[in-house]
Amino acid sequence: MIANTDITAEIGKLRKEKNAIILAHYYQTDNIQDIADFVGDSLALSQKAASNNADIILFAGVKFMAETAKILVPEKKVLLPDMNAGCSLADSCKADDFKKFIYENPGRTIVTYVNTSAEIKALSDIICTSSNAIQIIESLPVNEKIIFAPDRNLGNYVLNKTGRDIVIWNGSCHVHEEFSLEGIIKLKEMYPKAKVIVHPECEMPVRLIADFIGSTSSLLSFTEKDNSNVYIVATEPGIIHQMKNANPKKMYLPVPPKDSTCGCSECNFMKLITIEKIYRCLKSETPEIKLDNDIIIKAGKPIRRMMEISEKLGL
Ligand code: 13P
Ligand code: SF4
Repeated sequence: MIANTDITAEIGKLRKEKNAIILAHYYQTDNIQDIADFVGDSLALSQKAASNNADIILFAGVKFMAETAKILVPEKKVLLPDMNAGCSLADSCKADDFKKFIYENPGRTIVTYVNTSAEIKALSDIICTSSNAIQIIESLPVNEKIIFAPDRNLGNYVLNKTGRDIVIWNGSCHVHEEFSLEGIIKLKEMYPKAKVIVHPECEMPVRLIADFIGSTSSLLSFTEKDNSNVYIVATEPGIIHQMKNANPKKMYLPVPPKDSTCGCSECNFMKLITIEKIYRCLKSETPEIKLDNDIIIKAGKPIRRMMEISEKLGL
């Protein structure tokens, strides 16, 4: 068994030998973010996956993110250190149920959030992430009728921002729906000058009291540019690592979950990835993401459509 202290060095060696790149989401543990070649939100990670010179992409994140990378660069080997790293939001939208929903809501453009299986993406017209959801909806003709899936909170947020005709799939993320409004109010009483920053996957009451709403990367850049000193952070607390790196003197307070005993403000799927699993995965080059060619072709179109719009808008 390899000592913990050597693992980082071994990962470094393997990464070089195999010409591999490690991409990590902001919700990964601090030590994983620190060894990654690139840390970002869903959109930035997709953009990085699509443009790099590595032969192997090791994804420190969840399955839908690794699948999106594979769809964008099918010729590359994409590794996910634990195939159980799923997503409750992606799981809340199964292909057979979604086909029925599309059938019941005919004539609508299908916009799906990237937090979905490859099969759902293959049924979609265009994909979005939390960084570009509003811009993707606004890129469609004004009178276009839309289906938005799977996140009801992001869907509701986008509907209110754009005023478009949108029917929304009733899915949600178990982490973001757990943030406690009372917990935020208590923190605000203790730190009256704190700004409340919120991911759009949170429920409406939490969004309503936010000073700023945005994707993980926009929450991070908000704390970098804003001149307050204290932030109440309503998203997975992994992001706080980068906030502290950028501005160590500021204070970042994670919002507690509604059930104070459950520890469920952390994404248990994201946290399945560990440094040890990254080492074993890079060494053995398994588990590897494998997708049917047909799915890669069908899911690739709506993803690339999103990437092109994002690039044009400089996102
Ligand atoms: P981002 O788009 O901000 O990376 O969010 C991804 C996610 O899974 C949020 O729960
Ligand atoms: Fe999925 Fe929620 Fe985890 Fe994000 S935080 S990966 S939406 S379960």
